[in-house]
Amino acid sequence: MYQKSAPESIQEMFATIAPNYDRANTTFSLGLHKKWNRKLIKSVGEAKTLLDLCAGTGEIGFGFLEKHPHSKAIMLDFCPEMLAVAKTKGAPFEGRYSLIEADAQVLPLEDNSVDAVTISYGIRNVKDPSKCFQEVRRVLKPGGRFAILELTRPTNSLFRLSHKIYLKFCLPLLGKFAAKNLDAYRYLSQSVEEFASPKELEKKLIDSNLTPIKKISLMGGLSTILIANS
Ligand SMILES: C[S@@+](CC[C@H](N)C(=O)[O-])C[C@H]1O[C@@H](n2cnc3c(N)ncnc32)[C@H](O)[C@@H]1O
Repeated sequence: MYQKSAPESIQEMFATIAPNYDRANTTFSLGLHKKWNRKLIKSVGEAKTLLDLCAGTGEIGFGFLEKHPHSKAIMLDFCPEMLAVAKTKGAPFEGRYSLIEADAQVLPLEDNSVDAVTISYGIRNVKDPSKCFQEVRRVLKPGGRFAILELTRPTNSLFRLSHKIYLKFCLPLLGKFAAKNLDAYRYLSQSVEEFASPKELEKKLIDSNLTPIKKISLMGGLSTILIANS
């Protein structure tokens, strides 16, 4: 079983699903993730250099470059197989992006070196989110923006209960038959169920000297965008 206390197992899981990641994402979210990704990109605004953490196949980084033709993006992920898929999409953005294989908790970047940072569906998988936030604070220029997009639990109690049932029973079954990877989807369910609430994440941001400025709840809290300034 995959466990975030054993990061190698998470790396291994993403390596296994990398070739089908984009297709599976579209199927399981019914395309909603694309709309939410656009919202995340909009929330960081214009930035000369964006650092996208847990960049995966580059959906956020390339989406950002498409919207801002004069900007650059650094896409960082610890799974080389995910970055290899990102590379196949890079031709239209040649010279404007770099791919870095590294851990989001130890950023190989200078202090005050980037204008904005994003992380989408990544922080839930990081062993110590606070360590990541402290690194974000270090590399962000003063006044820079940090935006997090993550799967969360609905706030309405009835919706929350049906969400819990979907996560526990339906999603693993879909994962088993549609994606042929029961364990990966079991991990996905468990990680959403056990992860910190938006409120707890905001507290971790404050403790890392970042200032939360906005929270956007998507589809009754199925996903949340948190925006903070350095
Ligand atoms: C669910 S995918 C999200 C990919 C992309 N951000 C998106 O929205 O499509 C999570 C990604 O986080 C990466 N990841 C997880 N923990 C990480 C860590 N500690 N450091 C760097 N990357 C990590 C995984 O390799 C994977 O590519």
